[in-house]
Amino acid sequence: MFPELLPQPRFVSGDSGAGVVLQSPLHVHAPAALADTVAVFASDLANAVGWDVRSSDEQSAIIVVRVDESMPAEGFALRVDGRVDITVATATGLSYALTALRQLGPVELFGETLSPCPEWRLPGIDLVDEPRFEWRGCHFDVSRHFFDVATVCRMIDLIAMHRLNRLHLHLNDDQGWRVEIPAWPRLTTVGAYRSGSPVGHEDEKVQDNVPHGGFYTAADIASINAHAAKRHVQIMPEIDLPGHAQAVLAAYPEFGNGDEPLAVWTHWGISHNVLNVEPATLDFAEEVVRYVASLFPGSPVHIGGDECPSDEWAASPSALAIMEANGFDTPGELQGLYTERLGAALQADGHEVVAWDEVLDADVLEGTIIAAWRNASKGVRAARRGLDTIMCPEQFLYLDVLNSDEPDEPVAISPLPRVTTWEKVYGFQVIPDELEPSLHHHVRGSQVQIWTEYIATRDHLDYMTFPRLSAFAEVVWGSATAVEDFRPRLERHLERLAARGVRFRPLD
Ligand code: ACM
Repeated sequence: MFPELLPQPRFVSGDSGAGVVLQSPLHVHAPAALADTVAVFASDLANAVGWDVRSSDEQSAIIVVRVDESMPAEGFALRVDGRVDITVATATGLSYALTALRQLGPVELFGETLSPCPEWRLPGIDLVDEPRFEWRGCHFDVSRHFFDVATVCRMIDLIAMHRLNRLHLHLNDDQGWRVEIPAWPRLTTVGAYRSGSPVGHEDEKVQDNVPHGGFYTAADIASINAHAAKRHVQIMPEIDLPGHAQAVLAAYPEFGNGDEPLAVWTHWGISHNVLNVEPATLDFAEEVVRYVASLFPGSPVHIGGDECPSDEWAASPSALAIMEANGFDTPGELQGLYTERLGAALQADGHEVVAWDEVLDADVLEGTIIAAWRNASKGVRAARRGLDTIMCPEQFLYLDVLNSDEPDEPVAISPLPRVTTWEKVYGFQVIPDELEPSLHHHVRGSQVQIWTEYIATRDHLDYMTFPRLSAFAEVVWGSATAVEDFRPRLERHLERLAARGVRFRPLD
């Protein structure tokens, strides 16, 4: 119905009224509580087309915003009938309404640099919309390759343009620790830098020997959070423990299981060097994770928990003694000590806790949200245990996978035949058929994953992310239909991304 809108509305619009022509200066009337959101819109228009947005009384306004608290939190009503009327419950709803409104105008409205736009013609419109899922996310690995604050903020802008509302920052891994912890300075003085990275695919075993690193200070995190708040995006930090911890062990070897000194890892894959399970190490993990969480007030916090090999614990007399003292049958269950300890501390501090689905193999606190990545059935398993889940199965939503089977695709995480086309992403179903309807409420939503072993630059980040993220946006908004129906909307949307300077992968 609206080929310009991506995501398209979930609900069919009513009868439309008379169109309008918008011009600069644009007179907007909005409640004072929504002034910040109008100011962001004004600054976007000023940057893209040089327009002047002025606040005015209702009679002379061409855009009139009203609050109706009975509307859904992220919903909006948009009516064009001689003027533009927007009704919302929250600033987020207004932000989405204004994004939709811009999509109904010329592509220049999304420009990265100033272009002329004498007028903006809108047809008569009457639509009401709201997302189906509250968790509409994008994960971003800033450990394997570090991306600066400006790139993270640009990513926030781009996901907000798709009405996604969460950015999950993967802040540590074997190859780098990315957030400064004043009480544990070596995490960044040592753990944030590695001596080199693989050239081409890891399997080729060639190294570039070029140092790589970087980290965010508390001030950097504050500026990322402030930018995200402006765009109605919540940042979820992840500290991934007790596996994926080689950068921690390079900084503080006493938290490991062996005596050999370790360097921040220069390979991709899963390091077998993991944290030990001594009380002092759990104390350290709790202190660090709580500190990181404190930099993200009110945000959910992801405690990782994926791919933690237990062979070091199986070979450690001290770990085996702790296993026995806890009544565990296998060393793998020792991971539950981390999941429960970190989860309880964060919940006590008022954070929701998210973890990768492997934690289901050991003790998990009530209320832990499971990020189902290995397959959708892990989300079903979580829901059947009474836990909420975020669906992020690698078969559909991992954007580090090849975009196509064409021979000139740049090297990606897995070789052919593993391919994830945008069409495949578009075909993803957030709620799996096998999940009983009575448990559907446990599915909070879904997110795409951008792991960056093979993504080192901003241009390549764009190439791997778009247009697959654009296809995902419509899926998780809850309005996806058939690929043939979506394609013209996507083509139009790519013009906006091009105007915004995004180096997306062409459709064909
Ligand atoms: C993961 O991909 N290891 C969560």
